[in-house]
Amino acid sequence: MASWSPSSVPLVAVLLSLLLLQHCLCGCTVSAARIGRAVVLKPCPDDASVSIFHEAPVFNNGEGCGPSGGPGAIHVAMTLDGNYLRGTMAAVLSILQHSMCPENLEFHFLEARTEPKISSNIRSTFPYLNFTVYPFDSNRVQGKISRSIRQALDQPLNYARIYLVDLIPTKVKRVIYLDSDLIVVDDIAKLWEVELKGKVLAAPEYCHVNFTMYFTDLFWLDRSLTQTFEGRRPCYFNTGVMVVDVEKWRQGGYTQKVEEWMGVQKQKRIYHLGSLPPFLLVLAGNIKAVDHRWNQHGLGGDNIKGKCRRLHPGPISLLHWSGKGKPWLRLDSRRPCIVDHLWAPYDLYRSPKHFLEE
Ligand SMILES: *[C@@H]1O[C@H](CO)[C@@H](O)[C@H](O)[C@H]1NC(C)=O
Ligand SMILES: *[C@@H]1O[C@H](CO)[C@@H](O)[C@H](O)[C@H]1NC(C)=O
Repeated sequence: MASWSPSSVPLVAVLLSLLLLQHCLCGCTVSAARIGRAVVLKPCPDDASVSIFHEAPVFNNGEGCGPSGGPGAIHVAMTLDGNYLRGTMAAVLSILQHSMCPENLEFHFLEARTEPKISSNIRSTFPYLNFTVYPFDSNRVQGKISRSIRQALDQPLNYARIYLVDLIPTKVKRVIYLDSDLIVVDDIAKLWEVELKGKVLAAPEYCHVNFTMYFTDLFWLDRSLTQTFEGRRPCYFNTGVMVVDVEKWRQGGYTQKVEEWMGVQKQKRIYHLGSLPPFLLVLAGNIKAVDHRWNQHGLGGDNIKGKCRRLHPGPISLLHWSGKGKPWLRLDSRRPCIVDHLWAPYDLYRSPKHFLEE
């Protein structure tokens, strides 16, 4: 719980730190003078750890779902990061809410070892969720990460998706990997059922995007490197929404292939941004494209602070706040973008005001 990073709004930060202390403070009087408002503390709950998230309701299977835990299971993997926990909670809620068979969902969370345990938040918020937490040893990538132009992308957990297949149990044959800054507004079973057509991975693909810009001149001028793209037409794809054939990934040694490019990057700078380019080097042009409705992306804004994006035309199954801005931060700052109001209904976070008055 202590790993929650408060937003940049000072008052909220102060309130939040007070909240995090509440289980120590309950039942005592506390001087609230420093935050300039009266605080009424509620009596100590039986369980001393007060969650900063609301408990989600129970979601039950509709008709014709088959038994939970059976072959109809849908496996979803995400990371658990203190800075994105609020996003993860909203994402999980959105998935459950739109599933015909929510009890057939099985979640796999990758959590950094160094992180104070935040997985307990998942249990208290989703008491009925079928999930497993896998510790991700950030030492595994630490030495392999070279600095990128966006510091947020250098977090080891951002690279955890490369190792996902090594971490989940072998009974899992297919897995959906999702970023934490998105919500699903359609039945995730439809994404789960995409035909991979013999490919190791399906993801939203964007062939009109200028692919050149993801790599440096140092890369493009080196024939020994660019020949990796020979025989395929590489297109940009988003690694925040992926359907992975787990066995194909293992057999093909894709983790090692991605790592190898990270090794090259360590030697000479061949790309700019974090964990995405090594994925592109290995797989671009060789994936199954997923309908763009599964990645209404860029809602975080074009990497320019405060810039709002509108929705792209067309049907929407998934909204993705990729880019610098995150909806929970913008909502807290009271300067949300219009699209952030689509995220707000899935927010399980107890606002400090609400929390204190409850
Ligand atoms: C939850 O996951 C476990 C482990 O895979 C499985 O054995 C069990 O049947 C699942 N339960 C439900 C309710 O899906
Ligand atoms: C693509 O990006 C590269 C590198 O940023 C740039 O030099 C090139 O002009 C761009 N091409 C197009 C068609 O925009």
